[in-house]
Amino acid sequence: MRTTVGIIGGGPAGLLLARLLHRTGIDCVVLESRTREYVEQRQRAGMLEQGTVDALREAGAADRLAAEGLIHQGIELRFDRERHHVDFPSLTGGRTVTIYAQTEIVKDLVTLQLAEGPPLLFEAEALAVEKAESAAPVVRFRHEGREQALTCDWMVGCDGSHGIARDAFPASSSRTYAHDYPYSWLGILAEVPPSGDELIYARGERGFALHSMRSPSVSRLYLQVPNGTDPDDWTDDRIWGELAARFAIDADWTLHRGPITAKSVTPMRSYVHEPMRHGRLLLAGDAAHIVPPTGAKGLNLAVSDVRVLARAFAQLHRTGSEQLLDTYSELCLARVWQATRFSYDMTSMLHVRPDGDAFDDRLQRARLRRITESRHAAAELAANYAGLPLSL
Ligand code: APR
Ligand code: PHB
Repeated sequence: MRTTVGIIGGGPAGLLLARLLHRTGIDCVVLESRTREYVEQRQRAGMLEQGTVDALREAGAADRLAAEGLIHQGIELRFDRERHHVDFPSLTGGRTVTIYAQTEIVKDLVTLQLAEGPPLLFEAEALAVEKAESAAPVVRFRHEGREQALTCDWMVGCDGSHGIARDAFPASSSRTYAHDYPYSWLGILAEVPPSGDELIYARGERGFALHSMRSPSVSRLYLQVPNGTDPDDWTDDRIWGELAARFAIDADWTLHRGPITAKSVTPMRSYVHEPMRHGRLLLAGDAAHIVPPTGAKGLNLAVSDVRVLARAFAQLHRTGSEQLLDTYSELCLARVWQATRFSYDMTSMLHVRPDGDAFDDRLQRARLRRITESRHAAAELAANYAGLPLSL
């Protein structure tokens, strides 16, 4: 097989890149190791920056998003049994965010690609990337019981945090930065209407909790738990009880409870791989960086990588210039580190460290109080959360 751009991974990054390249007239092929069913049901985040909505619209994949996405004007912070709204439009010159599950984005992109192309091979596991420094990099992959090879002009690793594309980077010129947080999130989906119109980030005395949603009838909530927590140790009653305790405020508000239909534990970690290009091999999305979900940046960072990369390939296709490809890694990493910083700030401000003391507790509450009392501090949170501008 031969194509212009070989894409390893059919998650949001790989699928959106394929869509944008296809609409630019650039041939590509997507290799996805899992089944269509698996990638479409994988529960992930669901908060979209405006830039992500714009990219999906540019890809012609935003019809359902426009119909079903929930536009939000801000978030609510809770601590010391108080609630505080952080209003995005008034703090950012009119910006809003949209709630639309990543599973739905993947379904929309898969449906379009299977109908219109380019080729999307499921159960096609990439084994190794070879000749990345050459003008014809190759990815060996296993599909339909046979080992095959895809030769390309360019190869993009969109294969996530457990992918293989990074392995083709020489250790001598690669740098990795990792940070593991001392807690995890227990995430649930519940068949119950959300307990409010907004996302609620709560710092309870016993830990963090997040209230989000998927639709007017489905809630998505998260609970800080110790690393290594087994979700089966948490009954529905125990989960709802702990969530209610952490969201508790001295005001008239009730946490709506209902049947929990999904439950999983995710550790909190940060990871950055530098650089994001080696020869004719580039990385995009989780293949290059992981952020803790407190800042809702994972999907939005993957999309911003892809927007830059699609523009770079379009420039090459139109003019033969590799100028944007040459600056891709540096441009994306600047944004990655700002998102990593913001995710770290939100995570360390809202979670109760298992080894924390009274000083840590008062410091966190002072950081939260500053945001609720200073327009400047609130504007800084709003600007980062709604998405820093993408300087293309
Ligand atoms: N060969 C082919 N496909 C692979 C391989 C491989 N060797 N290894 C991994 N993959 C596939 C995975 O099955 C997955 O579908 O690559 C895809 C990577 O998708 P994601 O992990 O979703 O990463 P990305 O597309 O960068 O999207 C980032 O997803 O994980 C969330 O929180 C993250 O919201 C963020 C978003
Ligand atoms: C979600 O809706 O899944 C979600 C929203 C915001 C976050 C993390 C997850 O920060």
